[in-house]
Amino acid sequence: MTIHIGAKDGDIAPTVLMPGDPYRAKWAAETFLDDARLVNEVRGMLGFTGTWQGHPVTIQGSGMGMPSLSIYANELIKDYDVQTLIRIGSCGGMQDHVGIRDVILAMTASTVSTPSRGIFKELQYAPCADYGLLAAAHTAARAKGTTTHVGGIYSSDVFYDERPDLNEQMVRHGILGVEMEAAELYTLAARYGRRALAVLTVSDHLITHEALPAEDRERSFGDMVEIALQAAFG
Ligand code: HPA
Repeated sequence: MTIHIGAKDGDIAPTVLMPGDPYRAKWAAETFLDDARLVNEVRGMLGFTGTWQGHPVTIQGSGMGMPSLSIYANELIKDYDVQTLIRIGSCGGMQDHVGIRDVILAMTASTVSTPSRGIFKELQYAPCADYGLLAAAHTAARAKGTTTHVGGIYSSDVFYDERPDLNEQMVRHGILGVEMEAAELYTLAARYGRRALAVLTVSDHLITHEALPAEDRERSFGDMVEIALQAAFG
């Protein structure tokens, strides 16, 4: 038990999937895991543990933004000794060739600010995915026939961004999409020698202003859960 996670020792699996939305954690656990049971409900940030193809898995909500994810990832790593953390979430597309519903596997996550910023000072640290997870997720996504992009994303601190000039520079430098959590997840995983990856579905597009229709969101989210599980145990 930690400040923010009520699970008992042994109730959290070594592999954790982290959607931002706690109700997505519930849906994914009920849909994909066997014998899923609720292990955390502190502050409504639901977490479930079950098995997938015999492998123990926890699906724990992270909340939105790096400060929230950082709390859960820190406690999962330091108090529950979690080894593999895979974010499953949505992002905004930032390139013309990246379409709504496509999956982005975030090789790197640029950011102007994370809860870890203070320790790097002038260093432009490059938060980076675990290559083994990334390669396995790529294989799984292609096998599903999902249009998949691998490359850099941007982890923002704001959803309602007042920096169109910064977006322009990211588009110009090939950043595929924007979300709000991966950079801190990658930084923590590196710091503590764990594996991390962000598997993202493009839910809206900053250039075309398209958005994923509500009826497609569940299917896209399910695809990400399967890709993440196959990557973790592939
Ligand atoms: N910005 C930040 N985070 C996001 C977005 C976005 O446009 N879409 C989905 N997550």
